[in-house]
Amino acid sequence: SDASNSNASSTCSSPTATPFPPDILNDVQKRRTFAIISHPDAGKTTLTEKLLLFGGAIQLAGTVKSRKSARHATSDWMEVEKQRGISVTSSVMQFEYKNHTINLLDTPGHEDFSEDTYRVLTAVDAAIMVIDAAKGVEAQTIKLLNVCRMRNTPIITFINKLDREVREPFELLEEIENVLSIECAPVTWPIGMGKTFRGVYHLHDDSLLRFMPGEERRTTAEKIDGIDNPLLDRDFPLEVTRLREDVDLIRSASNPFSLDDFLAGRQTPVFFGSGINNFGVQEILQALLDWAPPPQARDAGSRMVQPAEAPFTGFVFKIQANMDPKHRDRIAFFRVCSGRYTASMKVRHVRAEREMKLSNALTFMANERVLMEDAVAGDIIGIYNHGQLHIGDTLTEGETLAFKGIPYFSPELFRMARLRDPIKNKQLQKGLRELGEEGAIQVFENLATGALLLGAVGVLQFEVVAQRLQTEYKVDAIFEPADIHTARWLTFPDEATRRNFEREQQHRMATDVDGNLVYLASTRYNLDVTREKWAQVGFHDSREHG
Ligand code: G4P
Repeated sequence: SDASNSNASSTCSSPTATPFPPDILNDVQKRRTFAIISHPDAGKTTLTEKLLLFGGAIQLAGTVKSRKSARHATSDWMEVEKQRGISVTSSVMQFEYKNHTINLLDTPGHEDFSEDTYRVLTAVDAAIMVIDAAKGVEAQTIKLLNVCRMRNTPIITFINKLDREVREPFELLEEIENVLSIECAPVTWPIGMGKTFRGVYHLHDDSLLRFMPGEERRTTAEKIDGIDNPLLDRDFPLEVTRLREDVDLIRSASNPFSLDDFLAGRQTPVFFGSGINNFGVQEILQALLDWAPPPQARDAGSRMVQPAEAPFTGFVFKIQANMDPKHRDRIAFFRVCSGRYTASMKVRHVRAEREMKLSNALTFMANERVLMEDAVAGDIIGIYNHGQLHIGDTLTEGETLAFKGIPYFSPELFRMARLRDPIKNKQLQKGLRELGEEGAIQVFENLATGALLLGAVGVLQFEVVAQRLQTEYKVDAIFEPADIHTARWLTFPDEATRRNFEREQQHRMATDVDGNLVYLASTRYNLDVTREKWAQVGFHDSREHG
Protein backbone atom coordinates (compact mmCIF):
# COMPACT_ATOMS: atom_id res chain seq x y z
CA SER A 1 0.00 0.00 0.00
CA ASP A 2 3.03 2.26 0.13
CA ALA A 3 3.03 2.03 -3.60
CA SER A 4 -0.52 3.25 -3.81
CA ASN A 5 0.17 6.33 -1.74
CA SER A 6 3.12 7.53 -3.72
CA ASN A 7 1.24 6.77 -6.88
CA ALA A 8 -1.77 8.75 -5.76
CA SER A 9 0.09 11.84 -4.69
CA SER A 10 2.20 11.97 -7.82
CA THR A 11 -0.94 11.99 -9.97
CA CYS A 12 -2.66 14.75 -8.15
CA SER A 13 0.12 17.20 -7.65
CA SER A 14 1.52 19.27 -10.44
CA PRO A 15 4.28 21.81 -9.95
CA THR A 16 2.52 24.63 -11.73
CA ALA A 17 -1.01 24.18 -10.48
CA THR A 18 -2.53 26.02 -7.59
CA PRO A 19 -3.07 23.93 -4.46
CA PHE A 20 -6.07 21.68 -4.81
CA PRO A 21 -8.95 21.69 -2.35
CA PRO A 22 -7.82 19.10 0.21
CA ASP A 23 -11.25 17.50 0.53
CA ILE A 24 -11.41 16.84 -3.21
CA LEU A 25 -7.81 15.66 -3.34
CA ASN A 26 -8.47 13.25 -0.51
CA ASP A 27 -11.64 11.85 -2.11
CA VAL A 28 -10.06 11.52 -5.54
CA GLN A 29 -7.19 9.46 -4.20
CA LYS A 30 -9.68 6.95 -2.84
CA ARG A 31 -11.35 6.41 -6.20
CA ARG A 32 -10.67 3.39 -8.38
CA THR A 33 -12.58 3.26 -11.66
CA PHE A 34 -12.17 0.18 -13.81
CA ALA A 35 -13.77 -2.27 -16.23
CA ILE A 36 -13.44 -6.00 -16.74
CA ILE A 37 -12.49 -7.13 -20.21
CA SER A 38 -12.64 -10.69 -21.48
CA HIS A 39 -13.67 -12.95 -24.28
CA PRO A 40 -17.26 -14.19 -23.74
CA ASP A 41 -17.46 -17.08 -21.27
CA ALA A 42 -14.09 -16.46 -19.64
CA GLY A 43 -15.88 -15.49 -16.44
CA LYS A 44 -16.47 -11.73 -16.49
CA THR A 45 -19.99 -11.89 -15.07
CA THR A 46 -18.88 -14.29 -12.37
CA LEU A 47 -15.95 -12.11 -11.37
CA THR A 48 -18.13 -8.98 -11.38
CA GLU A 49 -20.47 -10.68 -9.01
CA LYS A 50 -17.68 -11.87 -6.74
CA LEU A 51 -16.13 -8.42 -6.59
CA LEU A 52 -19.49 -7.04 -5.52
CA LEU A 53 -19.81 -9.81 -2.99
CA PHE A 54 -16.40 -9.05 -1.47
CA GLY A 55 -17.10 -5.36 -1.64
CA GLY A 56 -20.23 -5.96 0.42
CA ALA A 57 -22.46 -4.50 -2.30
CA ILE A 58 -24.43 -7.72 -2.50
CA GLN A 59 -24.96 -10.30 0.20
CA LEU A 60 -25.38 -13.45 -1.80
CA ALA A 61 -23.71 -14.71 -4.90
CA GLY A 62 -26.08 -15.46 -7.74
CA THR A 63 -27.57 -12.00 -7.81
CA VAL A 64 -25.81 -10.71 -10.90
CA LYS A 65 -25.49 -14.10 -12.46
CA SER A 66 -29.18 -14.85 -12.30
CA ARG A 67 -29.88 -11.50 -13.90
CA LYS A 68 -27.93 -12.58 -16.89
CA SER A 69 -30.51 -15.24 -17.66
CA ALA A 70 -33.54 -14.17 -15.65
CA ARG A 71 -36.58 -12.91 -17.46
CA HIS A 72 -37.69 -10.09 -15.22
CA ALA A 73 -34.49 -8.82 -13.72
CA THR A 74 -33.62 -5.14 -13.70
CA SER A 75 -30.67 -5.36 -16.01
CA ASP A 76 -32.62 -7.25 -18.63
CA TRP A 77 -34.78 -4.34 -19.60
CA MET A 78 -34.18 -4.80 -23.24
CA GLU A 79 -36.06 -7.45 -25.16
CA VAL A 80 -33.09 -8.54 -27.21
CA GLU A 81 -31.07 -8.97 -24.10
CA LYS A 82 -33.76 -11.14 -22.63
CA GLN A 83 -34.14 -13.29 -25.66
CA ARG A 84 -30.51 -13.91 -26.19
CA GLY A 85 -29.31 -13.94 -22.64
CA ILE A 86 -26.48 -11.61 -23.46
CA SER A 87 -25.68 -8.34 -21.89
CA VAL A 88 -26.25 -5.68 -24.53
CA THR A 89 -25.67 -2.62 -22.45
CA SER A 90 -23.11 -1.58 -19.96
CA SER A 91 -23.99 -0.62 -16.48
CA VAL A 92 -22.11 0.99 -13.68
CA MET A 93 -21.72 -0.25 -10.15
CA GLN A 94 -20.26 1.63 -7.24
CA PHE A 95 -19.23 0.08 -3.95
CA GLU A 96 -17.01 0.78 -0.97
CA TYR A 97 -14.07 -1.44 -0.11
CA LYS A 98 -11.50 -0.78 2.61
CA ASN A 99 -12.05 2.95 2.72
CA HIS A 100 -12.03 3.25 -1.08
CA THR A 101 -14.84 3.98 -3.50
CA ILE A 102 -14.76 1.56 -6.39
CA ASN A 103 -16.53 2.21 -9.67
CA LEU A 104 -16.94 -0.89 -11.79
CA LEU A 105 -18.08 -0.25 -15.34
CA ASP A 106 -19.62 -3.27 -16.98
CA THR A 107 -19.10 -3.84 -20.68
CA PRO A 108 -21.12 -5.94 -23.10
CA GLY A 109 -19.41 -9.22 -23.75
CA HIS A 110 -20.76 -9.86 -27.21
CA GLU A 111 -18.46 -8.57 -29.91
CA ASP A 112 -21.32 -7.08 -31.90
CA PHE A 113 -21.51 -4.41 -29.23
CA SER A 114 -17.83 -3.68 -29.10
CA GLU A 115 -18.34 -0.01 -29.99
CA ASP A 116 -20.08 0.41 -26.70
CA THR A 117 -17.22 -1.33 -24.96
CA TYR A 118 -14.64 0.97 -26.58
CA ARG A 119 -16.45 4.00 -25.25
CA VAL A 120 -16.72 2.56 -21.75
CA LEU A 121 -12.99 1.89 -21.77
CA THR A 122 -12.32 5.60 -22.32
CA ALA A 123 -13.99 6.29 -18.98
CA VAL A 124 -11.89 3.92 -16.82
CA ASP A 125 -8.47 4.26 -15.24
CA ALA A 126 -7.63 0.56 -15.19
CA ALA A 127 -8.93 -2.78 -16.44
CA ILE A 128 -9.02 -6.35 -15.24
CA MET A 129 -8.43 -8.84 -18.01
CA VAL A 130 -10.01 -12.23 -17.37
CA ILE A 131 -8.53 -15.20 -19.19
CA ASP A 132 -9.97 -18.69 -19.27
CA ALA A 133 -7.02 -20.87 -18.27
CA ALA A 134 -8.19 -23.65 -20.56
CA LYS A 135 -8.42 -21.40 -23.59
CA GLY A 136 -5.74 -18.79 -23.10
CA VAL A 137 -5.80 -15.60 -25.13
CA GLU A 138 -8.91 -15.44 -27.35
CA ALA A 139 -9.99 -13.17 -30.22
CA GLN A 140 -11.99 -10.69 -28.18
CA THR A 141 -9.24 -10.47 -25.55
CA ILE A 142 -6.86 -9.28 -28.25
CA LYS A 143 -9.25 -6.63 -29.58
CA LEU A 144 -10.09 -5.26 -26.17
CA LEU A 145 -6.51 -5.17 -25.05
CA ASN A 146 -5.63 -3.19 -28.14
CA VAL A 147 -8.27 -0.65 -27.21
CA CYS A 148 -6.81 -0.37 -23.71
CA ARG A 149 -3.43 0.14 -25.26
CA MET A 150 -4.64 3.24 -27.12
CA ARG A 151 -4.73 4.98 -23.75
CA ASN A 152 -2.03 2.88 -22.00
CA THR A 153 -4.64 1.71 -19.52
CA PRO A 154 -3.03 -0.35 -16.74
CA ILE A 155 -4.18 -4.00 -16.85
CA ILE A 156 -4.46 -6.52 -14.03
CA THR A 157 -4.71 -10.10 -15.29
CA PHE A 158 -6.86 -12.78 -13.70
CA ILE A 159 -6.35 -16.28 -15.05
CA ASN A 160 -9.58 -18.03 -14.22
CA LYS A 161 -11.02 -21.55 -13.86
CA LEU A 162 -8.01 -23.23 -12.24
CA ASP A 163 -10.51 -25.65 -10.67
CA ARG A 164 -10.71 -27.23 -14.13
CA GLU A 165 -8.20 -29.14 -16.21
CA VAL A 166 -6.46 -26.24 -17.88
CA ARG A 167 -3.23 -25.35 -19.63
CA GLU A 168 0.16 -25.11 -17.96
CA PRO A 169 0.64 -21.75 -16.24
CA PHE A 170 4.06 -21.14 -17.79
CA GLU A 171 2.56 -21.69 -21.22
CA LEU A 172 -0.27 -19.25 -20.49
CA LEU A 173 2.14 -16.50 -19.43
CA GLU A 174 4.16 -17.04 -22.56
CA GLU A 175 1.05 -16.78 -24.71
CA ILE A 176 -0.05 -13.53 -23.03
CA GLU A 177 3.40 -12.04 -23.53
CA ASN A 178 3.68 -13.12 -27.15
CA VAL A 179 0.17 -12.57 -28.41
CA LEU A 180 -0.68 -9.45 -26.43
CA SER A 181 2.82 -7.98 -26.29
CA ILE A 182 2.58 -7.15 -22.63
CA GLU A 183 5.09 -8.26 -20.00
CA CYS A 184 3.70 -10.57 -17.29
CA ALA A 185 4.65 -10.28 -13.64
CA PRO A 186 3.09 -13.22 -11.78
CA VAL A 187 1.92 -12.26 -8.29
CA THR A 188 0.33 -15.58 -7.37
CA TRP A 189 1.26 -19.01 -8.67
CA PRO A 190 -1.12 -21.99 -8.86
CA ILE A 191 -0.53 -25.31 -7.19
CA GLY A 192 -2.09 -28.00 -9.33
CA MET A 193 -5.28 -27.64 -11.30
CA GLY A 194 -8.67 -29.26 -11.70
CA LYS A 195 -9.31 -31.94 -9.10
CA THR A 196 -5.86 -31.41 -7.64
CA PHE A 197 -6.02 -27.62 -7.46
CA ARG A 198 -4.66 -26.83 -3.99
CA GLY A 199 -4.41 -23.07 -4.05
CA VAL A 200 -1.97 -20.37 -5.03
CA TYR A 201 1.37 -19.30 -3.69
CA HIS A 202 1.49 -15.54 -3.17
CA LEU A 203 4.94 -14.55 -4.38
CA HIS A 204 4.90 -11.11 -2.79
CA ASP A 205 3.51 -12.14 0.61
CA ASP A 206 5.47 -15.39 0.60
CA SER A 207 2.50 -17.44 1.69
CA LEU A 208 0.25 -20.14 0.39
CA LEU A 209 -3.47 -19.51 0.08
CA ARG A 210 -5.33 -22.75 0.39
CA PHE A 211 -8.10 -23.42 -2.11
CA MET A 212 -11.51 -24.25 -0.72
CA PRO A 213 -14.32 -24.87 -3.17
CA GLY A 214 -17.55 -23.04 -2.44
CA GLU A 215 -19.38 -20.28 -4.13
CA GLU A 216 -21.98 -18.71 -1.93
CA ARG A 217 -20.43 -16.44 0.61
CA ARG A 218 -17.25 -14.51 0.97
CA THR A 219 -14.58 -16.33 2.88
CA THR A 220 -10.96 -15.62 3.54
CA ALA A 221 -8.58 -18.27 2.30
CA GLU A 222 -6.45 -20.02 4.89
CA LYS A 223 -2.82 -18.88 4.74
CA ILE A 224 0.38 -20.85 5.28
CA ASP A 225 3.44 -18.60 5.57
CA GLY A 226 6.80 -19.36 3.97
CA ILE A 227 7.81 -21.70 1.18
CA ASP A 228 9.86 -23.85 3.61
CA ASN A 229 7.05 -24.17 6.10
CA PRO A 230 6.78 -27.85 7.22
CA LEU A 231 2.99 -27.47 7.11
CA LEU A 232 3.34 -27.53 3.34
CA ASP A 233 5.12 -30.90 3.52
CA ARG A 234 2.45 -32.19 5.84
CA ASP A 235 -0.59 -30.98 3.90
CA PHE A 236 0.66 -31.23 0.32
CA PRO A 237 3.11 -34.13 0.26
CA LEU A 238 2.50 -34.82 -3.42
CA GLU A 239 2.74 -31.25 -4.66
CA VAL A 240 5.28 -29.59 -2.43
CA THR A 241 8.42 -30.48 -4.38
CA ARG A 242 7.01 -29.21 -7.65
CA LEU A 243 5.72 -26.08 -5.90
CA ARG A 244 9.16 -25.23 -4.51
CA GLU A 245 10.76 -25.79 -7.89
CA ASP A 246 8.16 -23.65 -9.64
CA VAL A 247 8.43 -20.82 -7.15
CA ASP A 248 12.22 -20.89 -7.46
CA LEU A 249 11.99 -20.83 -11.21
CA ILE A 250 9.34 -18.15 -11.40
CA ARG A 251 11.26 -15.96 -8.97
CA SER A 252 14.45 -16.17 -10.98
CA ALA A 253 13.03 -16.27 -14.49
CA SER A 254 9.99 -13.99 -14.49
CA ASN A 255 9.79 -10.23 -14.33
CA PRO A 256 9.47 -8.72 -10.90
CA PHE A 257 6.45 -6.47 -10.56
CA SER A 258 7.18 -2.86 -11.46
CA LEU A 259 4.59 -0.27 -10.54
CA ASP A 260 5.89 2.14 -13.18
CA ASP A 261 5.70 -0.44 -15.95
CA PHE A 262 2.20 -1.43 -14.84
CA LEU A 263 0.99 2.18 -14.80
CA ALA A 264 2.47 2.73 -18.26
CA GLY A 265 0.58 -0.30 -19.60
CA ARG A 266 3.78 -2.21 -20.35
CA GLN A 267 3.47 -4.87 -17.68
CA THR A 268 0.55 -6.72 -16.14
CA PRO A 269 0.51 -8.32 -12.70
CA VAL A 270 -0.94 -11.83 -13.05
CA PHE A 271 -3.17 -13.63 -10.56
CA PHE A 272 -4.49 -17.18 -10.79
CA GLY A 273 -7.78 -18.30 -9.30
CA SER A 274 -11.28 -19.56 -9.68
CA GLY A 275 -13.90 -16.87 -9.79
CA ILE A 276 -16.79 -19.19 -9.26
CA ASN A 277 -15.20 -20.44 -6.05
CA ASN A 278 -14.40 -16.91 -4.83
CA PHE A 279 -10.77 -17.86 -5.03
CA GLY A 280 -8.28 -15.16 -5.97
CA VAL A 281 -10.89 -12.43 -5.92
CA GLN A 282 -9.69 -10.70 -2.78
CA GLU A 283 -6.17 -10.49 -4.18
CA ILE A 284 -7.53 -8.76 -7.27
CA LEU A 285 -9.35 -6.20 -5.16
CA GLN A 286 -6.22 -5.59 -3.13
CA ALA A 287 -4.21 -5.06 -6.30
CA LEU A 288 -6.79 -2.51 -7.43
CA LEU A 289 -6.41 -0.56 -4.21
CA ASP A 290 -2.63 -0.84 -4.01
CA TRP A 291 -1.60 -0.45 -7.61
CA ALA A 292 -4.37 0.74 -9.91
CA PRO A 293 -4.17 4.49 -10.36
CA PRO A 294 -6.65 6.93 -8.90
CA PRO A 295 -8.22 9.24 -11.49
CA GLN A 296 -5.61 10.86 -13.70
CA ALA A 297 -5.27 14.17 -15.44
CA ARG A 298 -7.19 14.20 -18.74
CA ASP A 299 -6.70 15.93 -22.04
CA ALA A 300 -9.48 18.44 -22.61
CA GLY A 301 -8.17 19.94 -25.80
CA SER A 302 -6.87 23.30 -24.71
CA ARG A 303 -5.26 21.94 -21.54
CA MET A 304 -4.89 18.98 -19.19
CA VAL A 305 -7.53 18.89 -16.46
CA GLN A 306 -6.27 17.74 -13.06
CA PRO A 307 -8.68 15.50 -11.14
CA ALA A 308 -8.54 17.49 -7.92
CA GLU A 309 -9.12 20.95 -9.39
CA ALA A 310 -12.07 22.71 -7.85
CA PRO A 311 -14.15 23.43 -10.98
CA PHE A 312 -16.43 20.58 -11.97
CA THR A 313 -15.81 19.01 -15.40
CA GLY A 314 -16.46 15.71 -17.19
CA PHE A 315 -17.78 14.06 -20.32
CA VAL A 316 -20.56 11.80 -21.55
CA PHE A 317 -19.26 8.40 -22.69
CA LYS A 318 -22.49 6.54 -23.11
CA ILE A 319 -26.18 7.14 -23.55
CA GLN A 320 -28.68 4.50 -22.66
CA ALA A 321 -32.33 4.72 -23.43
CA ASN A 322 -35.30 3.16 -21.84
CA MET A 323 -33.50 1.55 -18.92
CA ASP A 324 -36.82 1.39 -17.23
CA PRO A 325 -39.48 0.62 -19.83
CA LYS A 326 -42.08 2.31 -17.64
CA HIS A 327 -40.30 5.65 -17.82
CA ARG A 328 -38.96 5.78 -21.36
CA ASP A 329 -36.07 7.89 -20.27
CA ARG A 330 -32.59 8.20 -21.64
CA ILE A 331 -29.66 8.41 -19.34
CA ALA A 332 -26.34 9.98 -20.19
CA PHE A 333 -23.47 8.29 -18.38
CA PHE A 334 -21.06 10.98 -17.39
CA ARG A 335 -17.55 10.55 -16.07
CA VAL A 336 -16.54 13.26 -13.62
CA CYS A 337 -13.00 14.46 -14.43
CA SER A 338 -12.55 17.17 -11.81
CA GLY A 339 -14.29 19.12 -9.08
CA ARG A 340 -17.26 17.97 -7.10
CA TYR A 341 -20.80 17.30 -8.20
CA THR A 342 -23.46 18.72 -5.93
CA ALA A 343 -27.17 18.26 -6.34
CA SER A 344 -28.85 20.72 -8.71
CA MET A 345 -25.64 22.44 -9.68
CA LYS A 346 -25.58 24.58 -12.81
CA VAL A 347 -23.14 23.58 -15.52
CA ARG A 348 -22.24 24.70 -19.01
CA HIS A 349 -22.98 22.40 -21.94
CA VAL A 350 -19.97 23.37 -24.05
CA ARG A 351 -21.09 22.07 -27.48
CA ALA A 352 -24.59 23.49 -27.18
CA GLU A 353 -23.25 26.71 -25.65
CA ARG A 354 -25.83 26.86 -22.95
CA GLU A 355 -26.41 26.40 -19.26
CA MET A 356 -27.89 23.22 -17.80
CA LYS A 357 -29.07 22.32 -14.34
CA LEU A 358 -27.97 18.91 -13.12
CA SER A 359 -30.95 17.98 -11.07
CA ASN A 360 -31.36 14.50 -9.69
CA ALA A 361 -28.30 12.85 -11.17
CA LEU A 362 -28.08 9.17 -10.43
CA THR A 363 -25.50 6.81 -9.17
CA PHE A 364 -25.68 3.08 -9.63
CA MET A 365 -25.15 0.72 -6.78
CA ALA A 366 -25.13 -2.87 -7.91
CA ASN A 367 -27.55 -1.84 -10.60
CA GLU A 368 -30.03 -0.06 -8.39
CA ARG A 369 -30.50 3.58 -9.05
CA VAL A 370 -29.78 5.86 -6.15
CA LEU A 371 -29.90 9.63 -6.17
CA MET A 372 -26.37 10.92 -6.29
CA GLU A 373 -25.44 13.39 -3.62
CA ASP A 374 -21.77 13.79 -4.11
CA ALA A 375 -19.30 12.79 -6.79
CA VAL A 376 -15.68 13.56 -7.60
CA ALA A 377 -13.28 12.60 -10.41
CA GLY A 378 -13.55 8.94 -11.30
CA ASP A 379 -17.22 8.67 -10.33
CA ILE A 380 -19.89 8.07 -12.91
CA ILE A 381 -23.17 9.91 -12.68
CA GLY A 382 -26.30 9.31 -14.67
CA ILE A 383 -28.02 12.38 -16.06
CA TYR A 384 -31.60 12.28 -17.32
CA ASN A 385 -31.42 13.28 -20.91
CA HIS A 386 -33.97 14.29 -23.50
CA GLY A 387 -31.61 14.40 -26.42
CA GLN A 388 -29.62 17.46 -25.40
CA LEU A 389 -26.55 15.40 -24.49
CA HIS A 390 -24.58 13.41 -27.06
CA ILE A 391 -21.75 10.97 -26.60
CA GLY A 392 -18.52 12.90 -26.15
CA ASP A 393 -20.16 16.08 -24.79
CA THR A 394 -18.23 17.99 -22.17
CA LEU A 395 -19.83 19.80 -19.22
CA THR A 396 -17.91 22.39 -17.22
CA GLU A 397 -18.55 25.22 -14.79
CA GLY A 398 -17.97 27.75 -17.52
CA GLU A 399 -14.64 27.01 -19.19
CA THR A 400 -14.59 25.97 -22.85
CA LEU A 401 -13.11 22.48 -22.82
CA ALA A 402 -13.62 19.36 -24.90
CA PHE A 403 -12.46 16.05 -23.46
CA LYS A 404 -10.79 13.88 -26.05
CA GLY A 405 -10.51 10.24 -26.80
CA ILE A 406 -13.96 8.75 -27.39
CA PRO A 407 -13.74 7.08 -30.76
CA TYR A 408 -16.19 6.32 -33.54
CA PHE A 409 -14.93 3.53 -35.76
CA SER A 410 -15.86 3.10 -39.36
CA PRO A 411 -18.73 0.59 -39.46
CA GLU A 412 -18.28 -2.70 -41.23
CA LEU A 413 -21.90 -3.40 -42.07
CA PHE A 414 -24.40 -1.15 -43.82
CA ARG A 415 -28.16 -1.25 -44.27
CA MET A 416 -30.78 1.06 -45.77
CA ALA A 417 -33.84 1.68 -43.66
CA ARG A 418 -37.15 1.33 -45.52
CA LEU A 419 -40.59 1.77 -44.04
CA ARG A 420 -43.44 -0.64 -44.44
CA ASP A 421 -45.74 2.32 -43.82
CA PRO A 422 -44.42 5.52 -45.48
CA ILE A 423 -46.64 7.67 -43.30
CA LYS A 424 -44.32 6.94 -40.42
CA ASN A 425 -41.39 8.66 -42.05
CA LYS A 426 -41.18 11.39 -39.43
CA GLN A 427 -41.04 8.90 -36.59
CA LEU A 428 -38.41 6.88 -38.43
CA GLN A 429 -36.23 9.95 -38.83
CA LYS A 430 -36.66 10.87 -35.19
CA GLY A 431 -36.02 7.33 -34.00
CA LEU A 432 -32.92 6.87 -36.09
CA ARG A 433 -31.56 10.25 -35.13
CA GLU A 434 -32.02 9.51 -31.44
CA LEU A 435 -30.63 5.99 -31.66
CA GLY A 436 -27.70 7.40 -33.61
CA GLU A 437 -26.99 10.04 -30.98
CA GLU A 438 -27.18 7.39 -28.35
CA GLY A 439 -24.57 5.34 -30.20
CA ALA A 440 -26.75 2.25 -30.66
CA ILE A 441 -25.97 2.47 -34.35
CA GLN A 442 -24.30 4.93 -36.70
CA VAL A 443 -26.65 6.90 -38.90
CA PHE A 444 -25.61 8.64 -42.11
CA GLU A 445 -27.76 10.91 -44.23
CA ASN A 446 -26.95 10.92 -47.93
CA LEU A 447 -26.14 14.41 -49.15
CA ALA A 448 -27.76 13.95 -52.52
CA THR A 449 -30.88 11.96 -51.68
CA GLY A 450 -31.43 12.45 -47.96
CA ALA A 451 -31.71 8.68 -47.60
CA LEU A 452 -30.75 7.30 -44.21
CA LEU A 453 -28.05 4.71 -44.06
CA LEU A 454 -27.24 2.66 -40.98
CA GLY A 455 -23.77 1.48 -40.14
CA ALA A 456 -22.88 -1.12 -37.54
CA VAL A 457 -19.93 -3.06 -36.31
CA GLY A 458 -21.98 -6.13 -35.44
CA VAL A 459 -25.12 -7.45 -37.08
CA LEU A 460 -26.98 -7.71 -33.76
CA GLN A 461 -26.97 -3.93 -33.61
CA PHE A 462 -29.46 -3.88 -36.51
CA GLU A 463 -31.75 -6.24 -34.64
CA VAL A 464 -31.64 -4.10 -31.54
CA VAL A 465 -32.43 -1.00 -33.59
CA ALA A 466 -35.29 -2.63 -35.49
CA GLN A 467 -36.80 -3.81 -32.25
CA ARG A 468 -36.39 -0.51 -30.52
CA LEU A 469 -37.89 1.37 -33.46
CA GLN A 470 -40.90 -0.83 -33.12
CA THR A 471 -41.36 -0.68 -29.36
CA GLU A 472 -40.24 2.88 -28.68
CA TYR A 473 -41.23 4.71 -31.85
CA LYS A 474 -43.98 2.44 -33.22
CA VAL A 475 -42.19 2.26 -36.54
CA ASP A 476 -42.02 -0.89 -38.58
CA ALA A 477 -38.85 -0.63 -40.62
CA ILE A 478 -37.13 -3.08 -42.90
CA PHE A 479 -33.39 -2.99 -43.28
CA GLU A 480 -32.14 -3.76 -46.73
CA PRO A 481 -28.57 -4.49 -47.71
CA ALA A 482 -26.80 -1.38 -48.91
CA ASP A 483 -24.27 -1.30 -51.64
CA ILE A 484 -21.55 0.11 -49.43
CA HIS A 485 -18.24 -1.36 -48.49
CA THR A 486 -16.91 1.13 -46.01
CA ALA A 487 -17.16 4.70 -44.77
CA ARG A 488 -14.43 7.29 -44.24
CA TRP A 489 -14.63 10.60 -42.42
CA LEU A 490 -13.46 13.44 -44.59
CA THR A 491 -11.28 16.44 -43.85
CA PHE A 492 -10.46 19.13 -46.37
CA PRO A 493 -7.51 21.50 -46.60
CA ASP A 494 -9.81 24.37 -47.58
CA GLU A 495 -13.36 25.34 -48.46
CA ALA A 496 -12.72 25.31 -52.24
CA THR A 497 -11.50 21.71 -52.18
CA ARG A 498 -14.54 20.72 -50.17
CA ARG A 499 -16.89 22.34 -52.68
CA ASN A 500 -15.14 20.72 -55.63
CA PHE A 501 -15.13 17.34 -53.99
CA GLU A 502 -18.78 17.70 -53.11
CA ARG A 503 -19.71 18.68 -56.64
CA GLU A 504 -18.13 15.52 -58.00
CA GLN A 505 -18.88 13.05 -55.19
CA GLN A 506 -22.13 14.26 -53.67
CA HIS A 507 -23.97 11.02 -54.34
CA ARG A 508 -21.31 9.13 -52.35
CA MET A 509 -21.29 11.59 -49.48
CA ALA A 510 -23.26 11.73 -46.25
CA THR A 511 -23.31 13.44 -42.89
CA ASP A 512 -23.15 11.61 -39.56
CA VAL A 513 -25.25 12.48 -36.48
CA ASP A 514 -22.93 15.30 -35.56
CA GLY A 515 -22.91 16.76 -39.08
CA ASN A 516 -19.45 15.52 -40.08
CA LEU A 517 -18.89 14.69 -43.74
CA VAL A 518 -18.38 11.07 -44.68
CA TYR A 519 -17.40 9.31 -47.89
CA LEU A 520 -19.33 6.10 -48.63
CA ALA A 521 -17.22 3.77 -50.74
CA SER A 522 -18.95 1.09 -52.79
CA THR A 523 -15.84 -1.09 -52.91
CA ARG A 524 -12.31 -1.10 -51.67
CA TYR A 525 -11.25 -0.27 -55.23
CA ASN A 526 -13.63 2.68 -55.36
CA LEU A 527 -12.08 4.02 -52.15
CA ASP A 528 -8.55 3.64 -53.46
CA VAL A 529 -9.35 5.39 -56.74
CA THR A 530 -11.07 8.32 -55.08
CA ARG A 531 -8.27 8.65 -52.59
CA GLU A 532 -5.67 8.70 -55.29
CA LYS A 533 -7.52 11.30 -57.26
CA TRP A 534 -8.12 13.51 -54.20
CA ALA A 535 -4.75 13.17 -52.50
CA GLN A 536 -5.19 16.43 -50.58
CA VAL A 537 -8.41 15.21 -48.91
CA GLY A 538 -8.16 13.28 -45.63
CA PHE A 539 -10.00 9.93 -45.44
CA HIS A 540 -10.20 8.73 -41.83
CA ASP A 541 -11.39 5.35 -40.57
CA SER A 542 -12.18 6.67 -37.11
CA ARG A 543 -13.01 9.96 -35.53
CA GLU A 544 -13.50 11.32 -32.06
CA HIS A 545 -16.94 12.23 -30.84
CA GLY A 546 -17.97 15.80 -30.56
P1 G4P B 1 -18.73 -14.15 -19.18
O1 G4P B 1 -19.47 -13.13 -18.39
O2 G4P B 1 -17.29 -13.79 -19.39
O3 G4P B 1 -19.38 -14.56 -20.43
O4 G4P B 1 -18.61 -15.48 -18.30
P2 G4P B 1 -19.48 -16.02 -17.09
O5 G4P B 1 -19.07 -15.38 -15.83
O6 G4P B 1 -20.91 -16.03 -17.44
O7 G4P B 1 -18.92 -17.49 -17.05
C1 G4P B 1 -19.01 -18.37 -18.15
C2 G4P B 1 -19.10 -19.79 -17.65
O8 G4P B 1 -17.91 -20.12 -16.95
C3 G4P B 1 -20.24 -20.02 -16.68
O9 G4P B 1 -20.68 -21.34 -16.85
C4 G4P B 1 -19.55 -19.90 -15.34
O10 G4P B 1 -20.22 -20.57 -14.33
C5 G4P B 1 -18.23 -20.54 -15.64
N1 G4P B 1 -17.17 -20.10 -14.72
C6 G4P B 1 -16.85 -18.86 -14.33
N2 G4P B 1 -15.81 -18.88 -13.48
C7 G4P B 1 -15.47 -20.18 -13.32
C8 G4P B 1 -14.48 -20.85 -12.55
O11 G4P B 1 -13.69 -20.27 -11.81
N3 G4P B 1 -14.44 -22.20 -12.67
C9 G4P B 1 -15.30 -22.89 -13.45
N4 G4P B 1 -15.18 -24.20 -13.48
N5 G4P B 1 -16.25 -22.30 -14.18
C10 G4P B 1 -16.34 -20.96 -14.12
P3 G4P B 1 -21.98 -21.68 -17.68
O12 G4P B 1 -22.14 -23.14 -17.60
O13 G4P B 1 -21.90 -21.05 -19.02
O14 G4P B 1 -23.08 -20.92 -16.94
P4 G4P B 1 -23.84 -21.36 -15.63
O15 G4P B 1 -24.71 -22.45 -16.08
O16 G4P B 1 -22.79 -21.78 -14.64
O17 G4P B 1 -24.55 -20.13 -15.24
